[in-house]
Amino acid sequence: MESHAQQTAPAITQNPDIRYLGRLLGDVIRAYGGEKLYQQTEYIRSASVDRARGVQGADLTDTGLDALSLDDTLNFTRGFMLFSMLANLAEDRQGVAAEPGADVASALARLESQGVGRDAVLDLLAHSLIVPVLTAHPTEVRRKSMIDHKNRIADLMHLKDAGRTETADGENLDEAIFRQIALLWQTRPLRREKLFVADEIENVLAYFRDSFLPVLPALYARWERVLGARPQSFLRVGSWIGGDRDGNPFVQAPQLQYALKRGAAAAIAYYLDGVHALGAELSLSTELAHVPQAVLDLADASGDDALSRKDEPYRRALSGIYARLAATCVSLTGGQPARPSALKGEPYASPADLRHDLVVVAQGLASEGNGALASGGALGRLIRAVETFGFHLATLDMRQNSAVHERVVAELLKVAGVEADYLALDEYARIALLRRELANNRPLGSRFSAYSEETASELAIVHAAGEAHRLYGPQCITHYIISMAQSVSDLLEVNILLKEAGLWRVGDNGDPPHAAIMAIPLFETIGDLEAAPKIMSAYFGLPEIAGVVKARGHQEVMIGYSDSNKDGGYITSTWGLYKASKALEPVFAEAGAAMQLFHGRGGAVGRGGGSAFAAIQAQPKGSVQGRIRITEQGEVIAAKFGTRDVAMTNLEATTSATLLASLEPEGISERDATRFAGAMDELSNSAFAAYRDLVYGTDGFRDFFRQLTPIQEIAGLKIGSRPASRKKSSRIEDLRAIPWVFSWAQARVMLPGWYGVGQALAGFEDKALLADMAQHWSFLKSALANMEMVLAKSDLGIAARYLPLVEDQGLADSIFGRIREGWQAAHDGLLQATGQGRLLEKNPSLETSIRLRLPYIEPLNLLQVELLKRHRAGEDDPRIKEGIELSINAIATALRNSG
Ligand code: PGA
Repeated sequence: MESHAQQTAPAITQNPDIRYLGRLLGDVIRAYGGEKLYQQTEYIRSASVDRARGVQGADLTDTGLDALSLDDTLNFTRGFMLFSMLANLAEDRQGVAAEPGADVASALARLESQGVGRDAVLDLLAHSLIVPVLTAHPTEVRRKSMIDHKNRIADLMHLKDAGRTETADGENLDEAIFRQIALLWQTRPLRREKLFVADEIENVLAYFRDSFLPVLPALYARWERVLGARPQSFLRVGSWIGGDRDGNPFVQAPQLQYALKRGAAAAIAYYLDGVHALGAELSLSTELAHVPQAVLDLADASGDDALSRKDEPYRRALSGIYARLAATCVSLTGGQPARPSALKGEPYASPADLRHDLVVVAQGLASEGNGALASGGALGRLIRAVETFGFHLATLDMRQNSAVHERVVAELLKVAGVEADYLALDEYARIALLRRELANNRPLGSRFSAYSEETASELAIVHAAGEAHRLYGPQCITHYIISMAQSVSDLLEVNILLKEAGLWRVGDNGDPPHAAIMAIPLFETIGDLEAAPKIMSAYFGLPEIAGVVKARGHQEVMIGYSDSNKDGGYITSTWGLYKASKALEPVFAEAGAAMQLFHGRGGAVGRGGGSAFAAIQAQPKGSVQGRIRITEQGEVIAAKFGTRDVAMTNLEATTSATLLASLEPEGISERDATRFAGAMDELSNSAFAAYRDLVYGTDGFRDFFRQLTPIQEIAGLKIGSRPASRKKSSRIEDLRAIPWVFSWAQARVMLPGWYGVGQALAGFEDKALLADMAQHWSFLKSALANMEMVLAKSDLGIAARYLPLVEDQGLADSIFGRIREGWQAAHDGLLQATGQGRLLEKNPSLETSIRLRLPYIEPLNLLQVELLKRHRAGEDDPRIKEGIELSINAIATALRNSG
């Protein structure tokens, strides 16, 4: 695609990788799609770039889009989607996504300059826990095969950077890249089959296997160097896939078992490879090196009496470890390892036992002056991996909606003859009853009783969790999240269910109860966030809970970005989350427990997306005490962890931000904090009123939304195993937050990222105070930076092209008029508060990236509108539906964080 790019869009040439990859893509289109398609694509592309550079409004006839046949439309859409994919790749290579100073070494230097020394950092790390938790939230539109091809291109580009002209196999590098792009071109981008939970488990496993397993130990090795000490394994990974059944009836006990078994198989396979490689490496002979007794004992216990290794005790010890690991593999997964052991061994009872043997080997080396072999090298990394991943790989969270728990507990109580109508009880009576039940170990369920399908399934999954604890160790499942938590009884109900599987047990001799899995409330509406401190305080006030929490030392609370945004709009949600975090801190201090916040955020700003580095640092002081968990989901997973390099960068960013948020002193004075909070309350209240009025208080808004955006068509995309709505209803309240945000992005309105803020900013009188806050307060800075990105990616001119899709044009005009005014107010208010003349003036790299990208999205939007019109008019050519889905896919790819 280069020739026109050079004539018409010099800006494109600023990134040589985009130019290079774009040219190869053009060659591929010409070679595989034909000269005509190439010429058409080129024409549309250059016309779009021209128009984006000066001409407002969009006209199909300018671009030749209206001349495309249906087949050409599909090909064209695919071409533009691939261009966006390659442009993303090029941008990532240029480090557009990497943030300066977002690494542990820089954080240490910054802390040092503020008088916070290494010891304070090490003290913090001694009780820290940082966990990215991967979920299957359906916002990744690309198939894994497409992402894999893209990553292979990235690898080849690395060779090019190193000045190579050939691959390791002697292939010409340019030709190899061309071939990969040709493969992309000929790979079907849309999934035809429904996605099952097992597919989601396998998809995420690839990230664990290819990125997290090798990257975490490597990061620790790096951090040990910069810290000058070995911290405990504070960075771990989590997963929801196979445990999160909120609104997903396809996640049941067998899926939980499958997820854990596959995780165990991957972790053990990784350890087996590591031990095997060490066996090859550690060839020290007793004739040349002194070997301590502990290693000789381990070697003798291995049963390896091969003559050739008689004088090589390290190798013999490792053969024994290998044999025991191979036996562990069989006992935990039922499958033989790829490279079976020649020796027989007892399975390891726990990861700690495996670690113990590896440490014996490491200490043997260290004691004889071979420490370098032990600590910095492969053995050190293997020990770290075992500490971090155990036999379970990623901690699997359970999640279910509080309403389901209520029903299940009610049925259990009824069938057991304890309480005929639990649901009719008030909160006090519920708490009293649940506490009585939690004071004994007698389960409510009986295998001789018959239960509803729902109750049977929920009981089966907690029993599967209990079994998993016995098999893989207690680290395999430690968190149980309660969606839509609103009361203390919501928390107690989960403890009751856990008791059914022995995961809550009454303590002996006055000891506190033992809760093997922590019940965690997810507060996700504006009202629930406000009530969170009161609920937690009442929960901690129960003596048995106080005992559990004290013994554990910490308690987690999850806060939901998406649903609070859908409920109250962008700034009210962001402020509500901040205030809840701040108000919870003294409640935890009083209970003597460290607070661990779990941030449920997605990729789009309307779902808490944006820079994690900035977001973590913008948390209220005292709310991050070295402990944080964050969801990572959908398209974010490939973007942040798709290759080892980006995984390293992103995990560095999360970790360094956590250190800074925990240890940096407050950036603003107490007086400012109070003034700013008062101003935020005012802003939040007026934004809330404007947002609620539009979304929930306007007649016909639901129809407007459902007709303007491709929401109905999105529900048909095969991108996740769970259904799009919680209930069979078209109410916005019942729609899941993901399709809500996703569909607004497609129509380029992106309303959840800004609506209401403009009215609030306009109505706020003290503009000097606003400017002060926007400049000096990390909370507002980060909130406005995210909104700015959304405003820059939205385009109401293009959105207006979707208006004919709304049946009632009067309604369309009046609602769209309000949206337009709101956008303008948000735009003007933001510029005024941040002192800029245009959006992204102070963020040139993002500005360039977006400016280069926009012209390529516009034709996709215009085609989408045409196809939607034809589809909704009843045309049933299957290519129309395919075209719509392709356009959704392509726009999401081009916008990057739209899901
Ligand atoms: P949930 O997630 O609907 O699964 O609670 C919401 C989101 O992440 O957008």
